[in-house]
Amino acid sequence: MLPIGTKPAIQYVVEEVVASGIDDILIITGRGKRAIEDHFDHSVELEQILAARGEKEKLAEIKNIAEMASIHYIRQREPLGLGHAVYAARHHTGDKTFALLLGDDVVFSKTPAIKQLMEIYARHKKTVVAVERLPREKLHNYGVVEIKKRLSDSPPTYELCGIVEKPEPGEEPGDLAVLGRYILTPAIYTHISKTPPDQRGEIQLTHAIDMLIKEEGAVAVEIEGKRYDIGTPEGWREANSFLR
Ligand code: G1P
Repeated sequence: MLPIGTKPAIQYVVEEVVASGIDDILIITGRGKRAIEDHFDHSVELEQILAARGEKEKLAEIKNIAEMASIHYIRQREPLGLGHAVYAARHHTGDKTFALLLGDDVVFSKTPAIKQLMEIYARHKKTVVAVERLPREKLHNYGVVEIKKRLSDSPPTYELCGIVEKPEPGEEPGDLAVLGRYILTPAIYTHISKTPPDQRGEIQLTHAIDMLIKEEGAVAVEIEGKRYDIGTPEGWREANSFLR
């Protein structure tokens, strides 16, 4: 619910999904995150007050938030990592390929970021991860992909042979870092179920994607747009100044 400009960050992510033509959204929440559900629900009292005051524009804006899409929620009961959170969605997505967006990455782009990945999926019919080229000193914060071959120049698209989560300095397989946008085939769930927890007790999605790459392949695309990692104070400040 951290605001960027005048809206909570999660709203940019939901708007990106809606603008991409997806109308079924599952938000994986956790303890202390009920405010998200309230934000995307009707606020009856506020709507009544705005209606009584004749504040039509504001009324339309808050009604629009509640009517944006069909949003479902699942609570991740324990913070056991991103892989564990994604696994909680398995009954919802079933045997369908699905889009995954991480709420702490906000992307400002001409074409919604996840739509760009959907276009790549339509072309290759494989799991897609969004990447951006980062300076070496930042790579240890992210998943970093290992490239098998370049598939296309526009947009830059690569076939992958592996992916490493938060590599130690000097052990990066390249300089293309994963940002929080993915199209995942349902095989991901089998791989997550086979992924052991890491040394911090977390089940890493990246480890499951690495197994999936080896079994059915995956592609990475350098997306157009500016990504802000609002999980860091500097990323959050930069996103706010972008909107100013
Ligand atoms: C997660 C993923 C990582 C990815 C990043 C993108 O890391 O594990 O592979 O590069 O999101 O923001 P986290 O931000 O949870 O540390």
